[in-house]
Amino acid sequence: MGVVKNILFYQLFESTSSTYTYLLADPLSREAVIIDPVLETTARDLQLIEELQVQLKYILETHIHADHITGADVLRQKTKARVGISVSAGIACADLQLRDHDEIPLGSHRIQVRATPGHTNTCLSYFIDGRVFTGDALLIRGTGRTDFQEGSSDRLFESIHQKIFSLPEETQVYPGHDYKGQTSSTVGMEKKFNPRVGGGKTKDEFKKIMANLNLSHPQKMAIAVPANKACGKIMTVT
Ligand SMILES: [Fe+2]
Repeated sequence: MGVVKNILFYQLFESTSSTYTYLLADPLSREAVIIDPVLETTARDLQLIEELQVQLKYILETHIHADHITGADVLRQKTKARVGISVSAGIACADLQLRDHDEIPLGSHRIQVRATPGHTNTCLSYFIDGRVFTGDALLIRGTGRTDFQEGSSDRLFESIHQKIFSLPEETQVYPGHDYKGQTSSTVGMEKKFNPRVGGGKTKDEFKKIMANLNLSHPQKMAIAVPANKACGKIMTVT
């Protein structure tokens, strides 16, 4: 067996929407994948890809975002990478219609697709080499909201328990956002300390918490959701 070198890993941040974008690359094959790019930071992401001398193969979305526009289409045009989104989104612009248990190759590594609906019906988590990218399903000491985009607190509780908390405790958790400056957690820490789903909280307790959040809708929602259903393609008015 050859030596499997560690994956190159970068956690990037977009401050207006507090979104994390992740770039992973296999150092041997130089193949790369980006998770949840943001339109406003595509130039930064492209520069990093160039500096690392890697080839972007896949652009993966954790879900149809409501708070920012994805950089997927711009990156696809510049790199010819393929865009992967949950089959549940039912959108034609996706090159890969992803399903639970799918595997995406990255050099000699594999990215495991885990369907984690509940925040939206299109939520996917991606697991690779001891790291899980949870999007807005599981946040650090929090969870995504469940009150729009076919959200369901019932489904989110099941998704987190079955698809994320079932991973080894030392698995590193990388969320789609953080609003307090935290960058990562572990499955073990969230199982213990997550105030919504950790510490042995029951589904009924979780559903009660989620029903009483009283959040306002994201400012960009009316623009972001339709744009993201077109993979972030910028529409020009003629
Ligand atoms: Fe979201």
